[in-house]
Amino acid sequence: MKIAMVGSGYVGLVSGACFADFGHDVVCIDKDQSKIDRLHDGIMPIYEPGLAELVGTNVKAGRLTFTTSLAEGIKGADAIFIAVGTPSRRGDGHADLSFVYAVAEEIGQNLANDAVVVTKSTVPVGTGDEVERILKDSGTSHKFAVVSNPEFLREGAAIGDFKRPDRIVIGAEDEFGREVMREVYRPLFLNESPILFTGRRTSELIKYAANAFLATKITFINEMADLCEKVGADVQDVSRGIGMDNRIGAKFLHAGPGYGGSCFPKDTLALLKTAEDYDSPTRIVEAVVKVNDSRKRAMGRKVLDALGGAENARGKKVALLGLTFKPNTDDMRDSPAIAVAQTLTDAGVEVAAFDPEGMEIAAPLMPEVTMVDEPYAAIEGADAIAIVTEWDVFRALDLKRVKEIAKAPVLVDLRNIYRPDDVRAAGFEYSSIGRG
Ligand code: UDX
Repeated sequence: MKIAMVGSGYVGLVSGACFADFGHDVVCIDKDQSKIDRLHDGIMPIYEPGLAELVGTNVKAGRLTFTTSLAEGIKGADAIFIAVGTPSRRGDGHADLSFVYAVAEEIGQNLANDAVVVTKSTVPVGTGDEVERILKDSGTSHKFAVVSNPEFLREGAAIGDFKRPDRIVIGAEDEFGREVMREVYRPLFLNESPILFTGRRTSELIKYAANAFLATKITFINEMADLCEKVGADVQDVSRGIGMDNRIGAKFLHAGPGYGGSCFPKDTLALLKTAEDYDSPTRIVEAVVKVNDSRKRAMGRKVLDALGGAENARGKKVALLGLTFKPNTDDMRDSPAIAVAQTLTDAGVEVAAFDPEGMEIAAPLMPEVTMVDEPYAAIEGADAIAIVTEWDVFRALDLKRVKEIAKAPVLVDLRNIYRPDDVRAAGFEYSSIGRG
């Protein structure tokens, strides 16, 4: 099988490298010349565990190549994946499909053989129909099918998620599309990974429904955490207690500072827009979006409370540990840390921050924050320490040393990575999420 991957960002690069590892012949295409140059030099444009090695091995084996030329890259491809970005359109929250449609046009103009065109990017219901129309209008004489095949990759665990998926969803409208996709995923098929074949519009909706449901689960437990604090209950045990019920499931019930990242915030908004367009409001998702937005700022206020309230915070110093939206990534998109830092600096607090991978990207997003190169440099002289992202390095802080160098032993743990008894026994004033 020859596969072309248009867009060598997070999804395209991970998927392309994994397909090559299955034994397919893969070309990753991107308009960004410097990105392609760096990939040729073995430099990854993103941080993802295991990716550099996987790319290296498959380049060496001759199964993975890179180019900026779409026309060249798609030549002879059995399947052409569209994996370009679909950011939120400025102003209205709709997914911006201009990149997807531009690629579809270019594919139409350059198609040199029969091929299946697959949308891998997260795209609203009906996008596949539009891609099909664009290809038809291009007047190509070759046979083609347009298929939807959403990704379900978590950053930081993307390669594992790709190779051992809970399921593969394929939305196709004809046998040609299904047949080629069966070949593309044959190694996983043989591995007995569940594959769901369905219609294209259904497949497009599955992706949004999955992300909105997970975002709802997180937001639900976050609200339960707030209630726990009020009634004197423990959200960790509430999660366990409900998660043991198979109908509920234990995952995505970890209370925290609110979800962020490149998918949940953008996809929930886009789903709301689709629902609005079709006059079929999804009120639960509307509430989830609102609750999660206000939660991020509330987390900043929680840190201010630990300092003795906003009115006493001016001139105090806070150590912010963790900036990325979750560990094992350098991704800062919609990270709760941005709102937390903003709330603190607005109140006149001096903030010093450390993150193992995210500081370079974070710095311009929080210009008033001082970035330091290790956790203890942030903690030195701090009136409070706030853990915002659960990187492993923060799980193993030397509490004795922290207590010595901080101005006050005040720890706000927005990820519940410490046990309250342990930290209090070490002499800290400790607050966390939902452990009332
Ligand atoms: C997500 C989906 O999991 C994936 O299937 C989809 O394809 C893309 O979006 P990702 O954004 O990489 O993946 O992150 P994920 O690990 O799902 O976490 C999302 C956010 O939710 C993070 O901010 C995380 O901290 C938060 N979260 C997750 C919680 O607060 N509690 C949880 O229990 C789980």
